[in-house]
Amino acid sequence: MASERSRVLSGIQPSAGSFHLGNYLGAVRQWVSLQESYDTYYMLADLHAITVAQDPEALRTNTRLSAAQILAAGVDPERSVLFAQSHVPEHAELAWVMNCLTGFGEASRMTQFKDKAAKQGAEGTTVGLFTYPVLQVADILLYQPQQVPVGEDQRQHVELTRDLAERFNARYGETFVVPEAYILKETAKIYDLQEPTAKMSKSAASPKGLVNLMDEPKATAKKIRSAVTDTGSEIRFDRENKPGVSNLLNIYANLTGLTVQALEEKYQGKLYGALKTDLADVVVDFVTPFRDRTREYLDDPATLDKILAAGAEKAREVASPTLTAAYDKVGFLRPAR
Ligand code: TYM
Repeated sequence: MASERSRVLSGIQPSAGSFHLGNYLGAVRQWVSLQESYDTYYMLADLHAITVAQDPEALRTNTRLSAAQILAAGVDPERSVLFAQSHVPEHAELAWVMNCLTGFGEASRMTQFKDKAAKQGAEGTTVGLFTYPVLQVADILLYQPQQVPVGEDQRQHVELTRDLAERFNARYGETFVVPEAYILKETAKIYDLQEPTAKMSKSAASPKGLVNLMDEPKATAKKIRSAVTDTGSEIRFDRENKPGVSNLLNIYANLTGLTVQALEEKYQGKLYGALKTDLADVVVDFVTPFRDRTREYLDDPATLDKILAAGAEKAREVASPTLTAAYDKVGFLRPAR
């Protein structure tokens, strides 16, 4: 029976192997809670991963590792559709149509492209990296979702998705749902522990500011205890003047469910060291069972692969009719049967 529930689509690149705290708090945690009230589609964006060079074996390993982490975080394959982007050929096919609707200047304004191209240098900047946001547009529109749960850094790509959905609908007639970014204010941007005005990122200049969920908990605790704090000694949330402390308070609040205000009261008159030691314990208490659950999934790759195969089949049930509708609208002849 067709479902009446609204849809959600999101994705994550499997390229880094371990997710970091920003991926989890900014996105994957919402994926879990949204299962309650939406039909949810979650994707391992392996096509996106190859926009920068990948070792083929590492990509395969990291794709399974990413699937295992999503399941360990609480995404339930009975309730959500979990799949690999490359298993659903409609993504690359709709991306072509969307490429032909995107202005060159429009694509050139994507800030993620500019940042990534600057990191890759002229030689490493591929056309794939340039059209990466357009592939993301196709990922989203194929599923006709109302909501796209992401961190702040993906907002511009969801805006592009809205623009292209509206452009397509205006040119060819109503075809795509115009989706919205689902971004929670508190976790929209988790910052680097060493450089607390920059977002936590897998391509950070130094690994010291990056909390990878799959790292040894002891090493993670050490990173948190050596997080950069601010001048002064007061433990207070103030993004502008105290970005380091504010980031730590925010992570603490989001992992425990306590409010930032309750934490400010708890640490009144205490030193930064006390906050960092306690937060290190909070993070270790979170990552330890998370890593164990991830490893259990990884120990059974056949089951993981089956979950992804079943997911791809369910994803295609939605993606394929959407692509057919779009192909019809643009005027492609249907192949004779
Ligand atoms: P990716 O793999 O870089 O990141 C996955 C998710 O994590 C969020 N995120 C953060 N949130 C808060 N603070 C941070 N420091 C932080 N760092 C990362 C990202 O916003 C993202 O939600 N292009 C996407 C993958 C993608 C996708 C899609 C997403 C492909 N197709 C369709 C949504 C819909 C990406 O590279 O995310």
